[in-house]
Amino acid sequence: MGIFSGKRATGNRYKKKKKSPEIQNSAPRKGLFCKNMAMDLGTANTLIYLKDVGLVLQEPSVVAYDVHTMEVLAVGSEAKGYIGRTPLNIKVVKPLASGVIEDMEITQAMIREFFSRVQKMGSILKPKAVVCVPAGITKVEEKAVVKAASESGIGRLFLVEEPIAAAVGSGLDIDKNRGQMVVNIGGGITDIAVLSLSSVAYSDNIRIGGDTMTEALKVHIRKTHTMEVGENSAEQAKIGAGAAVPIQGLKPFMVSGKDAATSIPMKMDITPDEIREAIKEPVAIIIQAIRDALDKTPPDMVTDIAEDGIYLTGGGAMLRGLGEAIERETNIRCNLPADPLTTVIHGTGKILENLKFYKKVFI
Ligand SMILES: Nc1ncnc2c1ncn2[C@@H]1O[C@H](COP(=O)(O)OP(=O)(O)OP(=O)(O)O)[C@@H](O)[C@H]1O
Ligand SMILES: [Mg+2]
Repeated sequence: MGIFSGKRATGNRYKKKKKSPEIQNSAPRKGLFCKNMAMDLGTANTLIYLKDVGLVLQEPSVVAYDVHTMEVLAVGSEAKGYIGRTPLNIKVVKPLASGVIEDMEITQAMIREFFSRVQKMGSILKPKAVVCVPAGITKVEEKAVVKAASESGIGRLFLVEEPIAAAVGSGLDIDKNRGQMVVNIGGGITDIAVLSLSSVAYSDNIRIGGDTMTEALKVHIRKTHTMEVGENSAEQAKIGAGAAVPIQGLKPFMVSGKDAATSIPMKMDITPDEIREAIKEPVAIIIQAIRDALDKTPPDMVTDIAEDGIYLTGGGAMLRGLGEAIERETNIRCNLPADPLTTVIHGTGKILENLKFYKKVFI
């Protein structure tokens, strides 16, 4: 994708960009009607599913723009690559924080760009969309999602709570009269929910997720090695050698950065033990929140959960040994899907494909 240029979008801080050849190539579905969509608008990643097609987009929720011209320069993985490497006139932002919209205009610019990559918007009939939101967000936060989606070309919007979408994506029969626990660990938020009869019987969320672990590692490296590392390097180290419990055979991970005092470039190996120690606080908070949820759940439902196991989803759940650490503290085993990063969008997509069947789940 190249640098965008174009006219300033009406009533918008951000200029509309010209479509790059790659984007035009990836927008093959033209015509009078758009396909209905499902969207998981996450703090770290945005995913889009098209009805009858499947998952068509999975990109970091990141936007780079020129601070003087307000021109959007890059969106998604290209913009994520800009983090920590931009000149003064370019700002790279993640417009969502803890699962909710923090910057409306940038969120809209990002959504519009993603929509344009997957289909030609602006047809006569606006598409319907199912969008998932963290459980228990405020009305104001909910309205922000409605505004962002409708101003980006969506017609009818159906909101569904993320744990419900996560449960459907995990293949659970949410209609059962049985307690089922889903823990979705995203970038900025962890949603914990106990579901029964297509409803949320208990839910809570903590504004802690995978990105909190990355940040904790960054702070640790700075404090103990007086070394500054960028966000992407810290995330790679966490993914490469991070774990919630000691794991045999895990190798140290080399991080690059600069000396915090002298600014001289530095490289050093960070051991798995060190990473585990650095991220132990956010991990412990997540486990404690699961224990609190079990505390507040009636005994029969806890028995159901113990029999079926806890269903983990979200990228944060991919931390090695996290299921084992949760099992140690709760005595309940954890189930992890094959691809935790896409479980929620597959669930949201399934709901989109069967709107009538799932009508009870909409907010
Ligand atoms: N292999 C891995 N090990 C540990 N963490 C990982 C791994 N892969 C991705 N992550 C983390 O998962 C997080 C992103 O997960 P996900 O895409 O589910 O979040 P999100 O849905 O965008 O956020 P939210 O639901 O909080 O709004 C990031 O913090 C990322 O570092
Ligand atoms: Mg999410």
